[in-house]
Amino acid sequence: MSKNNNYKLSADWSIDSHISSLDKYNELYNESIQDPVGFWSRIAKRISWYKPWNKVRDFDFEKAKIKWFENGKLNVSYNCLDRHVESGDGDKTAIIWEGNNPSEDKKFTYTELLFEVKKLANVLKKLGVEKGDRVCIYMQMIPELSIAMLACSRIGAVHSIVFGAFSADSLRDRINDSSCKILITQDTGVRGKKDNIPMKENADSALFDTPSIKSVVVVKRTGVDVNMVEGRDVWWHEEMNIADDRCDPVHMDAEDPLFILYTSGSTGKPKGVLHTTGGYLVYVSFSHHIIFDYKDGDIYWCTADIGWITGHSYIVYGPLSNCATTIMFEGVPNYPDYGRFWDIVDKYEVNQFYTAPTALRALMKEGNSWVKSRNLDSLRILGTVGEPIKEPEWKWYYEIVGKGRCPIIDTWWQTETGGVLITPLPAATPTKPGSATLPFFGIHPVLMSDDGKEIEGNDVQGLLAIKTSWPGQMRTIYGDHQRFIDTYFSQFPGYYFTGDGAKRDGDGYYWITGRVDDVLNISGHRIGTAEVEGAIGKTNGVAEAAVVGFSHDIKGQGMYAFVTLMTGVDSSNKIRENIIQSVVKEIGPHAKPDNIQFSPALPKTRSGKIMRRILRKVAEGDHDNMGDISTLADPLVVANLISDSAQV
Ligand code: WTA
Repeated sequence: MSKNNNYKLSADWSIDSHISSLDKYNELYNESIQDPVGFWSRIAKRISWYKPWNKVRDFDFEKAKIKWFENGKLNVSYNCLDRHVESGDGDKTAIIWEGNNPSEDKKFTYTELLFEVKKLANVLKKLGVEKGDRVCIYMQMIPELSIAMLACSRIGAVHSIVFGAFSADSLRDRINDSSCKILITQDTGVRGKKDNIPMKENADSALFDTPSIKSVVVVKRTGVDVNMVEGRDVWWHEEMNIADDRCDPVHMDAEDPLFILYTSGSTGKPKGVLHTTGGYLVYVSFSHHIIFDYKDGDIYWCTADIGWITGHSYIVYGPLSNCATTIMFEGVPNYPDYGRFWDIVDKYEVNQFYTAPTALRALMKEGNSWVKSRNLDSLRILGTVGEPIKEPEWKWYYEIVGKGRCPIIDTWWQTETGGVLITPLPAATPTKPGSATLPFFGIHPVLMSDDGKEIEGNDVQGLLAIKTSWPGQMRTIYGDHQRFIDTYFSQFPGYYFTGDGAKRDGDGYYWITGRVDDVLNISGHRIGTAEVEGAIGKTNGVAEAAVVGFSHDIKGQGMYAFVTLMTGVDSSNKIRENIIQSVVKEIGPHAKPDNIQFSPALPKTRSGKIMRRILRKVAEGDHDNMGDISTLADPLVVANLISDSAQV
């Protein structure tokens, strides 16, 4: 390690690596920026097309018009399955499924997975699903989830996966926003010590008010008795037993939608991020191959949940398009004990391991013996995603988990970007703990000043924007293109604005400083403060709420809610509990506030705008310098907030 805390590359890493040196990275990066059309038309040939495109890219950020590989025809499930079977890799393991209970696991070869996907595609067709229809998937991490995604893509249906911890209300809103025709779910789920997560029951509650849903397909995961609605609900296994196993893939246009995935923004209801077929697949396939330096025979494991973008791109579509062996894990890092991740690494001899900083912090806290008692020699590359990784967990990951042998790949990206945009490459980029380092191929990041000018040079800080389009970029917000323009392209006309702040250091490395909007990142989960405030506001007796983040040792960010009760309503444990229940009902248990402070008034400007800057300081316990509070309608509010915070 050099004095300035840079981690040099080991000579071993560059042997046979796809990008073997910084010079090679620079050479290819420059080409990708100077000649994007030539670059991407070459890269796009890594997947199989029924018909080539006639224009590589066409974009106009002012109008938020983005097209890649126009008029090219392809099918995602063909690329992820048939193609590998046809080229002789049918017996290769596609998915290793590791159950919550360590004694449960299952493997699917590419041939077996294709067989299941074709049958399910026929089940969906029988239920009336046609090209372009939306299919909602609400499941835990079971193999049928991946099968469902691939079956949708085979027949051109657009999947919308709702993370399994979301509540019935959230599920209902997402189904209605994109008028899904079918819901695929499971009886109950198991995760960690929870052995009866009521998936079907939640689905039933959601479906009271979802007129577009015609049928529900239910996977029997636990065998618990669940209510089946006659004429609407069918069992997965019964339908699969009688389904035909022949199903030709539909020829999709490169710009046909592949999926919708809802994500939280700073205002309003969650946005249905829409990704399309050709550009997305090219981008996730290429980035998975390069960033994880994936080679034939490697065992690759991303611990994310498929309910989030990381799982879509880097458990399912990226790895399977590359004929990789990808692990799907149903459980959690601390069940049955804190050694579970490392047991799985040893059990399957995992080569690439990709997880979130929050998981590393939680494991680090438990001491090194859980790691040291395992072998872990198979590990070659260690990735992280979802939130800034700080130096302590970075070093722990590098030294204790990787034993100083494995590069740490800190990947920065978003639901909207489809794939990783800023990242080290394992054998090319010397790393620095906490920096996502340099842009991936074809990505042109810029830092903007508040007044909309590009900040040139190094050793600078600003708002992170991207200057030109890349194939994996989202194309619209489902059903609301104007909101797409307003959210991402209006702050800096001609640029995609990420919502993150960043620094660029003396070496041109990027350091992501976090969201600059009202989006929280709690344990790597994106949560909009407006959504939580709305949920708290529905509690009886609550007049108003404001939610902010604060630094949290394990979660990265914790959630702090300031709540004003209606006149005459007293604060009590009961109302506190009701507030939490309201958040669980409206959003889900992952969005529960860590702290609730009742305050008679919130700090507001004379025009009635809540000054969140002040609330953030109170939440952090940083009372010394409140900054300029002269614009507050009632400056005394601040003193009350500080004194009340002592009781939280
Ligand atoms: C944050 C997850 C720092 C960032 C793939 C971004 C990160 C938001 C990193 C997107 C990273 C993601 N370092 N921050 N390596 N990766 N983020 O949509 O604030 O769930 O805007 O996508 O997570 O979260 P999302």
